[in-house]
Amino acid sequence: MTSTQSQIEVSYDVSNEFFKLWLDENMHYTSASYLTGDETLEQAQIQKCNILADYAEVTPESFVLDIGCGWGSNLEHLVRERGVKRAHGITLSTAQCEWIAQKKLGEVHAIVCDYKDYVPEEKYDGLISIEMIDHLCSPAQANKGMAVELYRTYFNKVADWVKPGACFGFQAILRNRIPRTRKDLEDLAFTADVIFPGGLNPRLEELTAAVNPRWEIVEMRTQRECYGRTTGEWLRRLRMHETTIREKWGDQVFIDYERYLDTCVRAFAAHWSSDVQMKLRRIG
Ligand SMILES: C[S@@+](CC[C@H](N)C(=O)[O-])C[C@H]1O[C@@H](n2cnc3c(N)ncnc32)[C@H](O)[C@@H]1O
Repeated sequence: MTSTQSQIEVSYDVSNEFFKLWLDENMHYTSASYLTGDETLEQAQIQKCNILADYAEVTPESFVLDIGCGWGSNLEHLVRERGVKRAHGITLSTAQCEWIAQKKLGEVHAIVCDYKDYVPEEKYDGLISIEMIDHLCSPAQANKGMAVELYRTYFNKVADWVKPGACFGFQAILRNRIPRTRKDLEDLAFTADVIFPGGLNPRLEELTAAVNPRWEIVEMRTQRECYGRTTGEWLRRLRMHETTIREKWGDQVFIDYERYLDTCVRAFAAHWSSDVQMKLRRIG
């Protein structure tokens, strides 16, 4: 099983207002791309969107799909910064979809739909997906050796949604090393079980195997330190709003999110986790 809709709602439906407090105004909930090290989180998020839009070869005429579009931060970027006129998004979260509808982005439509059930009416010129694949394989499935098969099912399916030669700007969190201490292992298990139930980050070699045979990897970059910095900034902002969060959503929400973000900062620093961006081109 991939993350179910109710598991997704555990992860993303605490409250839109809650996430806005510690993410950023546009609610990008994925690693930003710090290129010089001097950028703000907001600037680094724009850079991330530009890298992926370039990978997807987006032009103002492109019809683009964002798979796992979150609160629409990337869709909004495509419209406002890249001049895109038509784009679609899919997500499993009702709260995210309602948020996007309020943005009034013209010919941009987001729906609540599992990618497995999605049937586009016409082919897209380009695809973007930012850290959605991390929901597609559970720890139990990975233990049974099903990860590559599940990821390949995804890459094969989405290849049918674009024209041959079309490009895909893809980003995923990676799992690299396993921590050694009991506390670190417990913190990682807490993050997986309580904050992101049902999900597991892929290994890079699982992804490079799974894109075959439908996609060619044209370019690839990793940005482990960028995610450390992104989660560090989220943690700083969460702590800045501690009183409000405890008052509005309760002590346990603050305690859980502080533990999760603190674990993420350590995970990227200690190479337990990383982040990858790929430019994929559809073959044939
Ligand atoms: C970590 S969030 C990233 C959101 C957004 N891409 C961003 O950069 O902020 C993962 C997103 O993937 C969506 N998602 C997870 N599994 C999905 C599935 N099977 N089908 C469609 N969307 C899915 C979630 O609802 C959520 O919007």
